[in-house]
Amino acid sequence: MKKQVRLVVNGHLWEGEVDVGTTLLDLLRDDMGLTGAKKGCDGGECGACTVLLNGQPVNSCLVLAVSLDGDIVETIEGLDDEESRIIKESYVATGAVQCGFCSPGMIIATKGLLNQNPNPTVEEIETAFVGHLCRCTGYARTVEAVQRAVRLLNEPKQ
Ligand code: FES
Repeated sequence: MKKQVRLVVNGHLWEGEVDVGTTLLDLLRDDMGLTGAKKGCDGGECGACTVLLNGQPVNSCLVLAVSLDGDIVETIEGLDDEESRIIKESYVATGAVQCGFCSPGMIIATKGLLNQNPNPTVEEIETAFVGHLCRCTGYARTVEAVQRAVRLLNEPKQ
């Protein structure tokens, strides 16, 4: 069975018919060609598929596309503002990106955290990464990346 779905993805309205069992992750990857959100476990365990849904990080593999109605989705491909640029640069500068499979989800989680809390503590950063699996960096560098981004974003503008 199919149903009409309407959502805004990275600032663009998308409307179409989707199978009632289609996840947001599959809709993004297979129908929209947005492959930045990764399919790791496909069961809510790894965080690789994280996107922002109305500003909040969610596992897109757990969201049925038919549950969306005019909702706003942001994927890693859509993060092109100054704050996002600094976050991405900080991941690279601190060595928080190695194989890169978890990085889009972690960067989205960082963006979601800083949307809510522009000056998080280490504990708050670690909490934002609960549910994100990384097999390469051991998480310390990811926390460093967020701290670097926070430092740069909070610097007084000249
Ligand atoms: Fe969604 Fe792993 S693919 S949490």
